[in-house]
Amino acid sequence: MTLFPMLFTLTILSTVLTALLGLGETAQGQEHPGLQLLKNRQYNPPTLPLEVFKSVWMAWEPELREQASRLSPEDRWEMIKKRYGFATAPYENGGFPLGFTGNDEAVGAFNCLLCHGGQVGSSPGIIGLGSNRLNMVSLQEDLTILEALQRGETLERPVTLDSPFQHTSGTTFAFDFSAQFLSFRTPNLDLMENPVDMGGFFAGELDPPALWNLSQKTHFYVDGFAQATPRALMQFTLTPPFSGELIRSWEDDFVAIFDYLQTLEPPAYPRAIDESVASEGRTLFNENCASCHGTYNNGEVQNAMTEPLLVGTDTLRTNGMTTEFKTYYNEGWLGYFGETEGRSDSGNGYLPPVLRGVWATAPYFHNGSVPTLSHLLLLEPRPTQWMITEADEYDLENVGVRIETDNEVLAQLPYYFQKRRVQDSSQPGASNAGHEFVDQISVENRRKILEYLKTL
Ligand code: HEC
Ligand code: HEC
Repeated sequence: MTLFPMLFTLTILSTVLTALLGLGETAQGQEHPGLQLLKNRQYNPPTLPLEVFKSVWMAWEPELREQASRLSPEDRWEMIKKRYGFATAPYENGGFPLGFTGNDEAVGAFNCLLCHGGQVGSSPGIIGLGSNRLNMVSLQEDLTILEALQRGETLERPVTLDSPFQHTSGTTFAFDFSAQFLSFRTPNLDLMENPVDMGGFFAGELDPPALWNLSQKTHFYVDGFAQATPRALMQFTLTPPFSGELIRSWEDDFVAIFDYLQTLEPPAYPRAIDESVASEGRTLFNENCASCHGTYNNGEVQNAMTEPLLVGTDTLRTNGMTTEFKTYYNEGWLGYFGETEGRSDSGNGYLPPVLRGVWATAPYFHNGSVPTLSHLLLLEPRPTQWMITEADEYDLENVGVRIETDNEVLAQLPYYFQKRRVQDSSQPGASNAGHEFVDQISVENRRKILEYLKTL
């Protein structure tokens, strides 16, 4: 896969390369230094001028462009954010949505919160919640069309359907491009011309996990191949043309960011919970689920399983994450040259995730293939094709994203938008199978477990 041309399409918009503090941040006395860094410092190349971002609507399909042209600048900006799945930052962010950090020239670089900042329905952005609707591939397409328009040319849609960043909104090929970036670096992270062979690496599209359970983890990632350390967080800063020296110089920043991320806590379920049903649900959970997911008392997780295992979910991620890659990672700078307890042989399967805050993290499983906890518990059949509804409401009853599954409605989208917004379980890596053993539990008892899951 060729990622570099895609990055450079975005890079053409600005060649300014700075890693400076952003503008407009008023120091908030108590704010954690790690949060300040995460918000203000660019760990990716700045490629997106705010001005260009705000004029991207001029590249939209005629009907939408017409609609946007009649709106106030504020409403139009909301429409822009919605099209690409961006949340409003819950802090002053120099005009950018959550997920971007601007520099002195108001040129944005994407940051960790592009994927690890999300919304529950149409809530303001939540730091540490995985985004479930990020649609960078449409942004990338629209910016390419805008550029062409500015040159006096017109481009047909779709400009690309095969972006190496993502195919389906809400999930990304995060590991595929970060592995590719690592393959062009020496063990010390210096850039080199010819890539190291990562052994046919292909992890597929992944759903970004919530980051508020990091304090409960010794190892990162769905298979736990990397020990939880500050350097492990820097996996996502390897974008060329950053030099190894520059990346290594950020180590202290990531010590602070690591410390900050450990302080994140999940949001509370916002509606009333039936306490007596939930308490029965807790007993059932402890009987049926705790052997893998651990028990939860006062927010503390006890004895969650730390060995990956297969529960019938899609195997692309676990099979495609090669031992060559894990070894190269663990034995290089990110893994403190083998001094950490990396698990390059982390084997076949996935760690049972810590379920604190699980009510808010739809869609479910490592590939984001299952839209609600009701579907996960097989209280309803899992849809093979679905899309988050336009209204962006959260389904607090079934606990997950509210979805559209009607084929006729889906078919009304332009086909490239169908490809991008519809989760299709037949795609590689996207199977919605797994965890079928829950049907051994009666429907009534599964409903009680569902009530209990809201309390975590
Ligand atoms: C392009 C989207 C994207 C960006 C940007 C991104 N991440 Fe992630 N992140 C993911 C995905 C997807 C996973 C799950 C990968 C897996 O386990 O296979 C992940 C996993 C993680 C994990 C492991 C969590 C766990 O429970 O095991 C941590 C920690 C993390 N990211 C931190 C960061 C930090 C810090 C940054 C910024 C420097 C960042 N991420 C940027 C998509 C992203
Ligand atoms: C044999 C071990 C095992 C048991 C028992 C088990 N799980 Fe899981 N569970 C897993 C694994 C492994 C995953 C990760 C699968 C993946 O992401 O592909 C998972 C994923 C989940 C998820 C998705 C979380 C997310 O953020 O995507 C939920 C919710 C869940 N389990 C709930 C339950 C409940 C409720 C029970 C009991 C009825 C249960 N599990 C029993 C191993 C188990």
